[in-house]
Amino acid sequence: MYINFWYPICTSEELQAAEPLSARIMGLSFVAFRDTEGLPHVLANTCVHRGGSLARGSVKDGCIVCPYHGWRYGGDGKCQLLPSFEAGRKIPARAKVDSYPVREQYGIVFAFLGDLPEEERPPLYTIEEYEDTAWRKHKLILLDINCYYERSMENGVDFVHNEFVHPIQASPKPIPGTVKYPETPWGSGVTSKMAEMGAKPRGDEAMESDPNVLNAGTWHHGPNTLITWITFGENRSLHQYIFEAPVDGGHTKIFFINLRSFMLEPEHDEYIRNANLRVTVEDIAVLEGLYPVRTPETRTREILTPGDKPVVRYRDFLEEWNAKGWRLDTKTLQENHGDVAYAIPCPDRRNSGNWVLDPVPLLPAARTSAAGVESAA
Ligand code: FES
Ligand SMILES: [Fe+2]
Repeated sequence: MYINFWYPICTSEELQAAEPLSARIMGLSFVAFRDTEGLPHVLANTCVHRGGSLARGSVKDGCIVCPYHGWRYGGDGKCQLLPSFEAGRKIPARAKVDSYPVREQYGIVFAFLGDLPEEERPPLYTIEEYEDTAWRKHKLILLDINCYYERSMENGVDFVHNEFVHPIQASPKPIPGTVKYPETPWGSGVTSKMAEMGAKPRGDEAMESDPNVLNAGTWHHGPNTLITWITFGENRSLHQYIFEAPVDGGHTKIFFINLRSFMLEPEHDEYIRNANLRVTVEDIAVLEGLYPVRTPETRTREILTPGDKPVVRYRDFLEEWNAKGWRLDTKTLQENHGDVAYAIPCPDRRNSGNWVLDPVPLLPAARTSAAGVESAA
């Protein structure tokens, strides 16, 4: 699990004006609430007085109020009212909790969980067509699954599983010679033209105009966003976007957005939603059975084949973020669970010291060997 990326916290709908909401991500606890203008805020969930859970408190005058002794924190994480102090006494500078940059987009409240300054942050994925009326979106799907998010991400970029896990929906197969591996600054994936089994590669133009040939592509953006585009002929596209919140090392919350450029009438929503869910349920059934739960520490504990190339590229990207020192030291985190209140450092920690909560332990920035891939390159 990696700091310095955007994570989905909750849906816009879930975050009501009057109620704080708790979220668990990377094994850590957060509180979300709205201020008097309705703007969402996401803070570390630990009151720095004596450890109260802010999410169990209330929202008053746009602040989050600790349920234990009533300390009030603003959206910037700074304590604004300390009820046991006599009037005029200065609130200590240390009375602050981490407050994270927030974006409310696609009906989701996202928080940037890390301390990078704005200009260095990996971007939240932009869904260009989200507000385009030529596209129909149906209601956001939320799924809580009992698997590690990296296993789910790897499944997303894994083309090979389709014919086994989704035998009906995925009867088309990649046409030999059309498989490509595109890359972006923050991700990688696989695209190909697909058709019924046995279809031979032909000229690009012939395949482009053949209604039985579809274009399919799937990419990751950062460690926790998956994009899948499927196009059948002109103007018939399905676009899926999955934003994943790693709840902890064995649980994942998925925020699943679907858009389509055909069958735009609302009465088709249910049918397409159910078709999507059927595929997702098939994936979950496999993912929840994987052992070990998380990807093995070394690649010699698996046998990777050329078909696993997109998975290997995803892992290479994770290694790059590990080398930047962004990977959580989950073992230390777990060992100290119960004794230390950790928080992911927020950007303000780069400008000011004197924080009460311990910064979350991170693995030392070191590139590990990527050996062990059997001719996957
Ligand atoms: S623990 Fe929060 S106010 Fe005392
Ligand atoms: Fe699948």
